[in-house]
Amino acid sequence: MVGFKGQNHPQQTDKRGALDEVDGRGTHPDTFNPLAERFGGFDLDVAAAPCNAKCARFYTRADDGLAQDWNGRVWCNPPYRNLVNWVAKAWHEFNIGRAELIVMLLPANRVEQGWWQEGVEPYRDRPGSPLKVEFLRGRLLFIRPGQTEIGPNERPPFGCCLLIWQKENAS
Ligand SMILES: C[S@@+](CC[C@H](N)C(=O)[O-])C[C@H]1O[C@@H](n2cnc3c(N)ncnc32)[C@H](O)[C@@H]1O
Repeated sequence: MVGFKGQNHPQQTDKRGALDEVDGRGTHPDTFNPLAERFGGFDLDVAAAPCNAKCARFYTRADDGLAQDWNGRVWCNPPYRNLVNWVAKAWHEFNIGRAELIVMLLPANRVEQGWWQEGVEPYRDRPGSPLKVEFLRGRLLFIRPGQTEIGPNERPPFGCCLLIWQKENAS
């Protein structure tokens, strides 16, 4: 894969911290809009900046979405640097009944890591569990801050998945 290098993998961020321009990549409308339609719209984007917010209500890094209440139907494409905290927060907000739906877009190439092995794998797609995982086809496009056009070879070199917390998932 030419032109797109992994840049916020833990082996890199441990040494020099995460890069804002990588953390700030927005979900492309071609990805987001069908999901918003499928799930009946989202009320709140919990990890955003004004340039990439997907809902009228959103939390930025300054707000710290991890320290706020997640109400209603929640969209979350979190920064990749501390996924364990975002998954734990989603469980908390869903379990206490504040969030009625959470859809989280995540990289699908880190499933060997602790946040997945402890926060996702034991619960996903199990009878009675509210958490469902969908592995997405192809490589998604993301939009960098300030970018309107996406150039060739700008798809990330990994697949993505959706984590969906929803009462109807339980069976
Ligand atoms: C991968 S981008 C997703 C952007 C957008 N919400 C979307 O789906 O298109 C993650 C965003 O979360 C923001 N962010 C980073 N830390 C955050 C925090 N603690 N609370 C809320 N937002 C945060 C970043 O600035 C960035 O804009």
